[in-house]
Amino acid sequence: MSLIVNGTEIPATGTIKFNGVSLEKVIFDGVIVWSKEAIMSRKGFLCGNWKMNKTWDESIALAQEILATGVNTTNPETVLAPATCNLKAVADTVGTNLGVCSQFVSNATNGAYTGQVSAAMLANVGCKYAIINHSETTYFGLTPEAVTGNEQASFYNNFNIIAGQLGQCFQNNITPILCCGENLTIREKWAHKTWVEYQLRMSLASITADQVEKMIIAYEPIWAIGTGKTATPAEAEEMCSHVRTVISEMYGSSAGDQVRIIYGGSMNAKNASELLSQTNIDGGLIGGASLKPADFATIWNAFSK
Ligand code: PGA
Repeated sequence: MSLIVNGTEIPATGTIKFNGVSLEKVIFDGVIVWSKEAIMSRKGFLCGNWKMNKTWDESIALAQEILATGVNTTNPETVLAPATCNLKAVADTVGTNLGVCSQFVSNATNGAYTGQVSAAMLANVGCKYAIINHSETTYFGLTPEAVTGNEQASFYNNFNIIAGQLGQCFQNNITPILCCGENLTIREKWAHKTWVEYQLRMSLASITADQVEKMIIAYEPIWAIGTGKTATPAEAEEMCSHVRTVISEMYGSSAGDQVRIIYGGSMNAKNASELLSQTNIDGGLIGGASLKPADFATIWNAFSK
């Protein structure tokens, strides 16, 4: 027997949309209540970005050491991003205990694109996540340092390429982790909020509300990546909250509530707890500290507090 209210069938479990707001069915003291808060409790997300570190053998050893600390993907959802050539080795090592993430994905389906890797290739080796628009990503053989002046803007933000990469991910059941963030020049001009909003609006132009809810957005101030300089918890929270506001404006409050927004930039075992306790920071994209199993485990444990 099903319950119909105002022509809408009420499911036995799960969620309904009421006046455009997602509500989750929860049973409290034997009474059914529809809770907006319940759906708003976002699952934490951690990504260990190993960058261009570790050979095949070393990647297997590091994954085993991380598993031995008890880190797993139950809560927070936790993924490792080794170099592309080591994805299969890490996927086989971690099984279902951890997710595996690529540091790059092509905007093209397949073809004459030397040096690139497609979303279908990633999915086929057990990779279910991909980082997009990381500021360290080399593109067409150039490193960020090699590109100057006006070219830098198109290097970091070729929005057509980002749109293609997001599309490839969704077609191949890969969760995209879209990076955004300002460099030091922009921060010093106090234009960081405007810049990040511009990046998001341009990058997400072809993305639907349903898709954005499944994505992860990483706010990564470029001046804090690999430099040992961290945004203060207040600075990181201000920007992650800003990202959520922009997503709410673009897609409605339900999408804004559900999208997971993480912080990246010199997060480590000492500062993680304070950063991760901020209301709008749902997790971390961790570079240097993810290569140290004990430090990565400390960051992971910061979620359970
Ligand atoms: P970092 O790197 O933690 O070494 O600063 C973060 C990132 O680039 O994702």
